[in-house]
Amino acid sequence: MNPSQLYLDYSQNESKIKMITAKELKKKYIAFFKSKGHKEIINASLIPQNDPTVLFTTAGMQPLVPNLLGQPHPQGKRLVNVQRCIRTVDIDEVGDSNHHTFFEMLGNWSLGDYWKKEAIELTIEFITKELNVPIERLAATVFKGDEDAPKDTESEQTWLSLNIPKERIAFLPKSENFWGPAGTSGPCGPNTEFFYWKDNNKPAPKSFDPEDDTWVELGNDVLMEYNKDEKGKYHKLEQKNIDFGAGVERIITILQGHEDHYLTELWQPLIKEIEKISDKKYSFPKGTLGFETVPECWKETMCSIRIIADHIKAATFIIADGISPSNTDQGYIVRRLIRRALRHLRLLDVDLFKIDATVDLAKIVIKMYQEEYPHLKTKQKIIFDELKREEDKFQKTLDKGLKELQKMIEKDNKVTSKEAFLLFQSYGFPIEMIEELAKENNVPIDVKGFNKEYEDHQKLSRIGAEKKFKGGLSESSETTAKLHTATHILAEVLRKVLKDPSIKQKGSNITEERLRYDFNFDRKLTDEEKQQVEAEVNKIIKQGLEVKKEEMAPEQAIKQGAQAEFGAKYPDKVSVYSIGNYSKEICMGPHTTNTKELGTFKIKKEESSAAGIRRIKAILI
Ligand code: ALA
Repeated sequence: MNPSQLYLDYSQNESKIKMITAKELKKKYIAFFKSKGHKEIINASLIPQNDPTVLFTTAGMQPLVPNLLGQPHPQGKRLVNVQRCIRTVDIDEVGDSNHHTFFEMLGNWSLGDYWKKEAIELTIEFITKELNVPIERLAATVFKGDEDAPKDTESEQTWLSLNIPKERIAFLPKSENFWGPAGTSGPCGPNTEFFYWKDNNKPAPKSFDPEDDTWVELGNDVLMEYNKDEKGKYHKLEQKNIDFGAGVERIITILQGHEDHYLTELWQPLIKEIEKISDKKYSFPKGTLGFETVPECWKETMCSIRIIADHIKAATFIIADGISPSNTDQGYIVRRLIRRALRHLRLLDVDLFKIDATVDLAKIVIKMYQEEYPHLKTKQKIIFDELKREEDKFQKTLDKGLKELQKMIEKDNKVTSKEAFLLFQSYGFPIEMIEELAKENNVPIDVKGFNKEYEDHQKLSRIGAEKKFKGGLSESSETTAKLHTATHILAEVLRKVLKDPSIKQKGSNITEERLRYDFNFDRKLTDEEKQQVEAEVNKIIKQGLEVKKEEMAPEQAIKQGAQAEFGAKYPDKVSVYSIGNYSKEICMGPHTTNTKELGTFKIKKEESSAAGIRRIKAILI
């Protein structure tokens, strides 16, 4: 059969009316909220500056946590922006029509200024007057109330006053209508979401059915009046905030009348390039609609194309924010994204030895976004170098893996599940490639067993990932406990050796391998200073000082002279750790009971992290 008979061409849909472009949407949004007294704040880095509990900025509110908790924002009480975000929980979902790792969020905030009524009115004015969405096609959900927070009749009244009829308002429980906190603790609250009837050929029904997929969410206003503490208790915030958020990719897909996000201009230039270098078409099997999740998605050309487009876009943005591929933290995510993209390029028969596919695609990402994100252009050399390096590295693993496979076959003329998993895990081999190679060599392969190994591993890594997202610092092991304690000593030693009492913690991140400590200081440390710091930390360790823990309110701790991280979000009660009489510091991490357990402290790297901020990476051996 002619292959073209098996597939439908997505380009048919190109004739759909383009109502609004992403660029227009973002401009309109910012201009509208500015006209309503909001100040535009920066579109912050994807790497949170002062929050060790998350790997990436996942929502526009994240850099504003201290301000949502009451610290005044220098730009005032009404803020607006477009924020670049990364959500890693969705990586495995990418390949269907609506998931992506990188996305942009429209956000507006009231920090103790306007409340529910004005927030909803502003949202609706923007949607109906600026985006011309008819009110007849809108519906809303509000929080139905529980033991933590009451039923949200105030939002309901506002929707009613804006001509959204009662039948179009659904009261839903916490699982649907409560947002946050972003980590385990912090600002959160009920939210009210608004929905759009997307079918152009059928009028919206009188009543809103949240289960009906024709109603799609356009965005939500989080009515942030609670602070969830570490124990899971909700406390009323003194300052009531509004946190509005809506995804750019989602809104334009809906308003342009598409079912598939990847048909919009935010993806098409990348898809066209992938079609060109692979000589394949962005198309879906006949008989499927193409926008549902395709089972075993990786088998389909269109899923591979989406994965490549998404992953290279996300990797480009993450590298531009200062991350290199590695085996830990954000670096590991970039590595995973690039290798998965490479794997899918291979599936599309792209010859990676001949084509610098990732670099070619990054060039397109930069071209698409450079007007709004000029740093992509200034960082382009770094982006290309990192991508190329990772691509080359993968090619090397590939060669080694091929040799390994040859040995396996020579041994007993088969590929066992464990061997297949080794090739997958240690050499980055996709299972389809191992299958193909086994077939070429005429040997059997245990794919079923491989799938089981893979699932077990996935479960493990998922547990690992959840732990990380629950809060890097609450994760405790002997090594991290030691590194936490060492961090406190380091903080004191730096103030002493560099003779600068104003030195403060500007960020901290601890993994099983190392500590990373950011502090304010405006020049590179000399070799002598680094040696002095190491020697001094080791001196304290050897003194065998006792590490004591006390619980108290953060204000009391600060009064007692405990060091605290500027701008950090602290719960109502904090743990204060004292190391002999040497150091006293608020910390949420685990600790040892005596410094002599730490071993020997060694600085691995001292570098600049941002303007006026130095970063030390150190280990204990
Ligand atoms: N912070 C809210 C969200 O991410 C607005 O949806």
